[in-house]
Amino acid sequence: MPARKKPAEEPRIDPDFDRRMMAAALRLGRRNLGWTGKNPAVGCIIVRTDGDTPVVVGRGWTAPGGRPHAEREALDMAGEAAKGATAYVTLEPCAHRQKGGSCSAALVEAGVARVVGAMADPDPRTAGKGYAALEKAGIAVTDGVLAAEAALAHSGHIARITKGRPHVTLKLAISADGMIGKREGERMMITGKQTFDAVQRMRTEFDTIMVGIGTVLVDDPRLTVRLPGLEGRSPARVILDANARLPLTSKLIAEVGVAPLLVFVTPAADPDKVVALAESGAKVFEVPPGPGGLDLGEVLAVLAEEGYQRVFAEGGAEVASSLMQGGLLDEVYLFRAPVVVGPDGVRALGGMALSAIARSPRFRLIESAAVGEDMMRRYVRAA
Ligand SMILES: NC(=O)c1ccc[n+]([C@@H]2O[C@H](COP(=O)([O-])OP(=O)(O)OC[C@H]3O[C@@H](n4cnc5c(N)ncnc54)[C@H](OP(=O)(O)O)[C@@H]3O)[C@@H](O)[C@H]2O)c1
Repeated sequence: MPARKKPAEEPRIDPDFDRRMMAAALRLGRRNLGWTGKNPAVGCIIVRTDGDTPVVVGRGWTAPGGRPHAEREALDMAGEAAKGATAYVTLEPCAHRQKGGSCSAALVEAGVARVVGAMADPDPRTAGKGYAALEKAGIAVTDGVLAAEAALAHSGHIARITKGRPHVTLKLAISADGMIGKREGERMMITGKQTFDAVQRMRTEFDTIMVGIGTVLVDDPRLTVRLPGLEGRSPARVILDANARLPLTSKLIAEVGVAPLLVFVTPAADPDKVVALAESGAKVFEVPPGPGGLDLGEVLAVLAEEGYQRVFAEGGAEVASSLMQGGLLDEVYLFRAPVVVGPDGVRALGGMALSAIARSPRFRLIESAAVGEDMMRRYVRAA
């Protein structure tokens, strides 16, 4: 067994400083969350301490499409200054060969003295091997810094690798009387302008938005990002439409070129309608039927195979209910608004009390904030 190289100089360890740097690396990684294809959205910061003052010499985050990786970007920025420095990485550096070599090999080659990671990569091509390669080369490794925050940031990557499906986040806006919209007629805005903008920004961090055909038929939504400067960040639109009822006159079809449109149907759907949807530019997938319409486990498996990691489920009530009952919800954003819809409304979660989420031991409240006149609460599935 080859002898381990000794680190050039023993790096000083300050756990509080490590946490601050990892928090900054997590913020960098978030820049391309939802846009890194099959790769995780990682952040990396390289810090040198010559004398008493630490200096950031390299910063990187996974590029759109997944390459270059964050470490490569940060090392390129640091150049020679990486020698003897500490690299903060939000996920274990990859160990598998790729174009230009693995990130663990690049960190060794650059001569960093220490690597601080937030969590091991569950991808079997790396899992533990990235850290092992660093240690073998004499680099000091600290793992587990802000691990819970990193697990949330990489939830899409983790779900895809460990469950064979994307991470699923449900967003619902609920009126004061527990409704999410009107059953028929005009589309009804439940929440205010600030929540609308917040949801538009949230969309940019997902690679898919998913809704049921019921929502499409009532709201005729566009499901795109229209915030100035972010128009190019619209996720793929996923429509659950067992019977291929999506109207060819819908805005989704009219704007099929803006972002991919994926329509899921069952084999029982009218073949003429399926052909018409495909000819209009939609990508149509056949999956078996399941409770409520389609087998949602199959839908999510297909999305994972297509390389999607993060689903933003925007309703409606039936879809929310199916996801909840199928145990497929990982995260929930509830926006409670002061408006009253009245008796002709659609009850949230198909009659299932939303407070069930708040009471459920399966979910943990991790954030709450006022958004204009609305109140946002964010829940994540307890491990
Ligand atoms: N406040 C909010 O946040 C919010 C968000 C979205 C929508 N909305 C409102 O919600 C209302 C529409 O909600 P909705 O409950 O009637 O419809 P929905 O949940 O949007 O769509 C339900 C339909 O989706 C199809 N589907 C396919 N597979 C399914 C599955 N496994 N589980 C459930 N549905 C599946 C079914 O039709 P097929 O069998 O034909 O496929 C089903 O009837 C509208 O009023 C809309 O404005 C509110």
